[in-house]
Amino acid sequence: MKMRTDYCGNVSQAYLGQTIALCGWVQRRRDHGGVIFIDLRDREGLVQVVCDPDLAEVFATAETLRNEFCVRVEGLVRARPQGTENSNLKSGAVELLCKGLEVLNASVTPPFQLDDENLSETTRLTHRVLDLRRPQMQKNLMLRYKVAMAIRNHLDAQGFVDIETPMLTKSTPEGARDYLVPSRVHSGEFFALPQSPQLFKQMLMVAGYDRYYQITKCFRDEDLRADRQPEFTQVDIETSFLGEQEIRDLFEDMIRKVFKQTMDVELQNPFPVMAYGEAMARFGSDKPDLRVKMEFTELTDIMKDVDFKVFSGPANSDNGRVVALRVPGGAEIPRSEIDNYTKFVGIYGAKGLAWIKVNELAKGRDGLQSPIVKNIHDAALAELLKRSGAADGDILFFGADKAKVVNDAMGALRLKIGHSEFGQKAGLVQGRWEPLWVIDFPMFELDEEAGRWAACHHPFTSPKDGHEDYLTTDPGKCLAKAYDMVLNGWELGGGSVRIHKEKVQSKVFRALNISEEEAAAKFGFLLDALQYGAPPHGGLAFGLDRIVTMMSGAESIRDVIAFPKTQRAQCLLTQAPSPVDEKQLRELHIRLRQAEPKNVA
Ligand code: AMO
Ligand code: AMP
Repeated sequence: MKMRTDYCGNVSQAYLGQTIALCGWVQRRRDHGGVIFIDLRDREGLVQVVCDPDLAEVFATAETLRNEFCVRVEGLVRARPQGTENSNLKSGAVELLCKGLEVLNASVTPPFQLDDENLSETTRLTHRVLDLRRPQMQKNLMLRYKVAMAIRNHLDAQGFVDIETPMLTKSTPEGARDYLVPSRVHSGEFFALPQSPQLFKQMLMVAGYDRYYQITKCFRDEDLRADRQPEFTQVDIETSFLGEQEIRDLFEDMIRKVFKQTMDVELQNPFPVMAYGEAMARFGSDKPDLRVKMEFTELTDIMKDVDFKVFSGPANSDNGRVVALRVPGGAEIPRSEIDNYTKFVGIYGAKGLAWIKVNELAKGRDGLQSPIVKNIHDAALAELLKRSGAADGDILFFGADKAKVVNDAMGALRLKIGHSEFGQKAGLVQGRWEPLWVIDFPMFELDEEAGRWAACHHPFTSPKDGHEDYLTTDPGKCLAKAYDMVLNGWELGGGSVRIHKEKVQSKVFRALNISEEEAAAKFGFLLDALQYGAPPHGGLAFGLDRIVTMMSGAESIRDVIAFPKTQRAQCLLTQAPSPVDEKQLRELHIRLRQAEPKNVA
């Protein structure tokens, strides 16, 4: 007989009466008055193995088994006695009557029970091999593979070819900090690990490979969050001879197919499309979570003349904004919770959180409960109640500050309340999957520290038709042919139509205050390539880790990456990064500065 004939998790009633061989790990051994049960696990799931004392040798071996021993069993598939079936398992109606049992390898005692649901992430990442043995992690990584295959199949069918691009390369323009690799051969010089294959894929377009894709690692040394890793995987795509709408249609179709094939989920068709400006106005975010059914009410224009500095200040300043967020039914939110929300918006720089509880509109001011209404004159009060659609039982929260602070703080509050227990009960969050295209991004954003314009996407993004003149006259007004795909408030992917004409590219560099010399030093190879009949082209990149995280319902992208880094950009399994020998440093022409004390946050 073969070493293994089947997967444990696949054994089912279809196997009744067959003799099969399984290999797997002991999830648990249970001694039941003379009979030993083993829950045997492999990547497909569990099966129950029964060892009877009649077979003395088998039974003796079974008695030695401990958790996580790797074993081979041979036996007969039979029905479980009535009443002992386990409907949670695919194999739950059957069991394997053990005829042969071999320990392939013993295991030392694992540092934790694999089915413990309350493991800390530190424990899990330190013992990642055992963590990866857990069914949930196996499910996540299998799903990841399925998603990647569905993407490959779709792109292959559409004529896309997978072309690899270098990992040891020059700094790219995505704008995070680079991971650098010192050159031994060229003293004092460094490679940068790619933040994306952006420049290479554009050069491939010039080279005539008009449909390129790659599922590839990207590296960014940035502040980490639940949806960010220092090395992550992009589905990176570029095409020639397609316009913005065609590109979006093609990849919307791809994502819809991938969800259908891997999850049997039908995403809406077509995805809604929203301009960046509208998204910021209504939700304070360029990746709004449309499951949350609340939006901002703009009040900047009616708060200019109120006798309340907190509102009139921002309302009269150039980059200030005043908005309300109406929470239907929110009048029942207790003071203690409002205090928590006030602290919460503080994280985003808000200096307070004014509110009005609408107890009874018909009673006018007497029907409102609030620390601020006394400061707001009748006309403004009437208008704000009208605009927000306030009704009895609602609460209105207010944000007044620089637009960025208001957008960040009130945008985050919208999500927090929407997804809170109260929000769910009050029906403020609805729908399982809410995709969205956000388009018409600005070309530039003001880098306040540096006092100059910075590219919102990257400097090769094409301005919208008719906006080219703004590049010289009013860069802040210039919109781009850039688009992001958003799902449930996460940016899944983003891209743009690129500039393929030298003249436009020079204007963009000028707007960005990048001199010809600087452009040549940084991206000269791309600019050179663009001179040789560069085709119109564009593309986008999806975050594979993010797509799979959303699908699996995991809380962090670390749960869909086999060997991720911690929030502090360390690998707890291998203990990387780590110091290196003096000899290695010398070969790399590196002398360390006085070592910084370690582990100081
Ligand atoms: P962008 O920088 O928007 O575009 O990245 C594309 C997508 O990659 C994912 N992503 C990340 N995922 C995990 N961890 C990170 N640190 C991280 N950073 C980005 C996101 C994001 O939408 N070259 C352009 C694409 C193009 O224009 O074609 C680019 O890299 O899901
Ligand atoms: P104050 O006059 O500072 O006591 O504030 C009165 C109310 O306005 C309190 O409820 C504060 O939480 C709120 N508040 C203060 N600053 C802001 C702000 N920038 N945006 C929104 N509300 C604020």
